[in-house]
Amino acid sequence: MRFVAVDELKPGMKLGRKIINRNVTCMLQKGIVLSGVNIERLKTNGYLGAYITDSISEDIEIEETVNEKTFEEGITAVADADVGMILDVAKKIVDDISKLDRISVDMLDLRSFDDYTYHHSVNVAVYSVAVAAKMDLPEEKIQEIAVAALCHDLGKIKIGPAIINKKGRLNDEEFEEIRRHPQYSYDMLYENHMVSSSVRQAVICHHENENGSGYPYGREGDEIPLAAKIIHAVDVYDALTSRRSYKEPYSPVDALEYIIGGQDILFDRKVVDIMQTVIPAYPPGMDVMLSNGQRAVVSAHTTEALRPVIRIYENAKEVDLSRDPEYESVFIIASGILLQSSEKVEILNENRGRDGGKKKVLVVDDSSISRGQTKTALEGDYEVTALESGVACLNYVKAKGVPDLIIMDIEMPMMDGVSTVEKLRANCPQDVKILFLTAVADRDTVIRSRQAGAVDYILKPANPIYLRERVAIAIDKNLER
Ligand SMILES: [Fe+2]
Ligand SMILES: [Fe+2]
Repeated sequence: MRFVAVDELKPGMKLGRKIINRNVTCMLQKGIVLSGVNIERLKTNGYLGAYITDSISEDIEIEETVNEKTFEEGITAVADADVGMILDVAKKIVDDISKLDRISVDMLDLRSFDDYTYHHSVNVAVYSVAVAAKMDLPEEKIQEIAVAALCHDLGKIKIGPAIINKKGRLNDEEFEEIRRHPQYSYDMLYENHMVSSSVRQAVICHHENENGSGYPYGREGDEIPLAAKIIHAVDVYDALTSRRSYKEPYSPVDALEYIIGGQDILFDRKVVDIMQTVIPAYPPGMDVMLSNGQRAVVSAHTTEALRPVIRIYENAKEVDLSRDPEYESVFIIASGILLQSSEKVEILNENRGRDGGKKKVLVVDDSSISRGQTKTALEGDYEVTALESGVACLNYVKAKGVPDLIIMDIEMPMMDGVSTVEKLRANCPQDVKILFLTAVADRDTVIRSRQAGAVDYILKPANPIYLRERVAIAIDKNLER
């Protein structure tokens, strides 16, 4: 079985795993042969893709973390806000995960736009229980975490789809309303005697950050219950890897990089460590692009998260990247769903051979260390100019014109990155491509900065390989959002 992005699905491909949807017309059983109509429906409903079985992937097995039926029941329980049923499903999730020999959430979630919140809640429960089980917490505690995870966003029902799914920038009022959902979820559980106060505490704290920058209380570190810390980190992971009306999905490795970058700022370090052991950066069935230009599909785990066993498409050769000496200096440079769209492959190919007429990159950062690191990482491929403030950036653009990309820090004295971007846009007839590189990392800032028109958002300190890859993609990205 392997994962195929929706744009790459072809009539005649055989479905390797059932597609779940509350809308029955979209539900597709395992084993069916896809028709053009099926594929169109998957596209219009916002699915990322599907698992298919073909000759190259026939023997690639992807273990289900929880039973398919449990998953479906979870969706119904959350959609109906049926607390009795939620308790029952929570128990089943804990049971299913306790039976696994090796805890690893390998299956990508396939969901439509309309079922987003329900699928999300069940996913968050599966990830949370996986983390909690790996931490060897007592079963009672794990059960509590499962219930809290299923319930964490129940309060979004009170907000309504117009705000939840809004494509454009949220106004202050809408933003405030979104930030009330932990309280709404808490209130919905308050009257229910089946739910303990520690479950409610975990629910209300699921957007609190380690450094106190979260909401609703602004609690920090030890003031946040462990259950909430776990739910918080996996919640962000799941949101990043999903496709929403306003953004494309991150690949698992990119989302994990993001989470790692946010440790001690947003997320608890211990939780982040454990998360990396239960969520694979390159799950079996996922397409990867190698630094030697070969395309492959991941076929199995190894003990090294970043070096799985892969199967190369052109010759069906199986390579264990953690051992094969021939592949010692070959690494994975891209993975996930966007890789399969031909557009991205072209970008990578283009970059490989590009020389002469280097593209111009402007780095704006008040920290000289961070400025230097970014410059060093990019200098070989780009013409890099580094500046220390928003004002210097505005002056530079006035004098020299718009560069191909501006890498902008957010937290700077005098004029911060977001205001600098706003001023640039106001003064500049041409469009400017912005990539935020910053230590300010809550998800709402990410979303807001994207709404401010940034093409990407990276946490620092960023790994140089990762930074180069994101910069290459940002430079080639179309500006319309
Ligand atoms: Fe939430
Ligand atoms: Fe959530």
